[in-house]
Amino acid sequence: MLKTHTCGELRTSHAGQTVTLAGWVNRRRDQGGLIFIDLRDRWGITQVVVDEESTPEAHQIASQVRNEYVLQVTGVVRIRPEGTTNPDLATGEIDVTANQITIFNASKPPRIYINQDGNEREAERMRYRYLDLRRPRMQHNLITRHKTVKMIRDYLDERGFVEIETPILFKTTPEGARDFLVPSRLQPGKFYALPQSPQQLKQLLMVAGYEKYFQIARCFRDEDLRGERQPEFTQLDMEMSFVEREDVMQLCEGLALALCDTIVPEKQLLARPFPRLTYQEAMEKYGSDKPDLRYDLQAIDITELAGASGFSVFNQNAKAGKKIKVIRAPGLYRDQDNPEALLSGERLKKLMRSLEDMVKAEAGAKGLAWMALPLNAEDEVKGPIGKFFTVDQKLELFEKTQAQPGDILLFISDTDEVIYATVDKLRRTCADILNLADPNVLAFAWVIDFPLFLWNEDENRWDPSQHMFTAPMPEDRHLLDSDPGKVRGTQYDMICNGYEVAGGSIRIHERDLQEKIFPLIGQTMEHAKEQFGHMLEAFEYGAPPHGGIAWGIDRLAMLFAGAPNIREVIAFPKTQTGSDLMAHAPSLPEPGQLEELYIMSTYKGEDEE
Ligand code: AMO
Ligand code: AMP
Repeated sequence: MLKTHTCGELRTSHAGQTVTLAGWVNRRRDQGGLIFIDLRDRWGITQVVVDEESTPEAHQIASQVRNEYVLQVTGVVRIRPEGTTNPDLATGEIDVTANQITIFNASKPPRIYINQDGNEREAERMRYRYLDLRRPRMQHNLITRHKTVKMIRDYLDERGFVEIETPILFKTTPEGARDFLVPSRLQPGKFYALPQSPQQLKQLLMVAGYEKYFQIARCFRDEDLRGERQPEFTQLDMEMSFVEREDVMQLCEGLALALCDTIVPEKQLLARPFPRLTYQEAMEKYGSDKPDLRYDLQAIDITELAGASGFSVFNQNAKAGKKIKVIRAPGLYRDQDNPEALLSGERLKKLMRSLEDMVKAEAGAKGLAWMALPLNAEDEVKGPIGKFFTVDQKLELFEKTQAQPGDILLFISDTDEVIYATVDKLRRTCADILNLADPNVLAFAWVIDFPLFLWNEDENRWDPSQHMFTAPMPEDRHLLDSDPGKVRGTQYDMICNGYEVAGGSIRIHERDLQEKIFPLIGQTMEHAKEQFGHMLEAFEYGAPPHGGIAWGIDRLAMLFAGAPNIREVIAFPKTQTGSDLMAHAPSLPEPGQLEELYIMSTYKGEDEE
């Protein structure tokens, strides 16, 4: 090795030893006769001292180095003189007096500062990703991710799971997104599809008798990108034979708890064992199938109470069978910078107008009625609909919602779909304003009893709410013909802090049941046989009952790192438009490449970036 120790390793017990360090110049301070260099590697920072008088040659070299130069330093470990120790550094009680310095490589002034977390544009970080990844915070994220995956592998290995790789060049394995296609040169005109997940392959491994499979698997989905979505991402993919829903959930919960305890012991788990919500409960209370449970902000049904008030919108909606719900936003009427005081009338109006505009634009709501509760109970409530409620109705309302002075009650009445979307938006936004989402808390939970199908208005057919291989709950199976919308699936989702971390189900393992699903989701038998004939066939050769799940490793790593999006835990992620800004992918093909693949491009535009 070109170094004897790391830059995070040396302590007072090494005093007097001659050591060789190698790393990057984090900072250099030139004090004339003495030059101080903070040398950094993955493990930490060590201060190097170069003295002009005793080592003129080393001093001459040190005077040339700049930030991010790569150096090798040989010198003697010295206990720092009184008053010069640095309690912020693990190595802060020593420094290394250099005898010899070698410059391995110089560095241009780095385009982003490694030694501080700047607020440069993310595009700049992506363009110079190798510099961005040199930052201790990013190194910590990727190392935490490594430890997470290593622990997953060990945990599952100890429990009899086998890791098996499945192909990337395959056939469509739909999960609801568009496929990425790869043209075949050897078979002109034909294409592989990159798997959206190894779903079919892991089920076939169950037919093959492996019983407990897992894989850290790359998945590819051509979909619109968001903070928690990338076109290629990593799953912990699992499948087990002879299991029921409870078995898979227990195993995963055990793994999740072990990971939390080991990888992020500093974080607080809100509840163990994980609470369980039915899909219906989650939607009615939180408007989302992946609610952030770090805060309450529940929607409460007040259809009867508010329907009897004097507010005509509520009367009419209640008569028409639409629900009326209320969310109590604790302390939202208070000035967040000075919680003793309430917002002025002007600021209250402005806040409520911005919330109303948001739910109109983003959730399709027709309005947002509200009541703001004054500090003095004698005073009238503020807001547009207070006057339509009698004193008794208001008292009942405050009782039901546990409303306190300084709170704001938010009212929504519409179709279920609009209420769900509005409640979800309001919860997230209010939590943001009120600072309720503690980054040090992990609120895991399970969501179960999903409907097997969701109605697709545009296509006039059912869509699988998870995927087409999910088995119906055995007790609902008889409804498949008569009332498919009422059939619950065996799906289970593990959620945390507003994200779906994992999702899975017990699978169909019988050909006749699988064949029943295809027409319901708008697939002709002919097309289904063409796409999934191998699955149907396999189910005729001794397919065991089986089930599984897949975890989003990027999302889990993001939550563990406390990062705002998954790009922070992926070494080389893509931008919103699917670009790699460093290597400039995707790019135009070389001349002749398309011809070789028998592809004719109709694209006439410029190369976009
Ligand atoms: P699902 O589609 O729910 O299930 O995916 C499983 C988990 O993968 C993560 N995930 C993503 N992460 C980053 N970027 C994306 N574009 C993305 N899409 C999904 C989520 C999600 O919970 N085959 C089934 C699993 C099964 O039934 O066993 C599947 O893929 O965290
Ligand atoms: P209006 O009588 O139209 O002035 O409405 C009074 C208040 O009720 C306003 O704050 C509207 O935003 C609100 N509002 C109107 N329709 C609804 C609805 N469907 N659900 C909740 N609030 C509404």
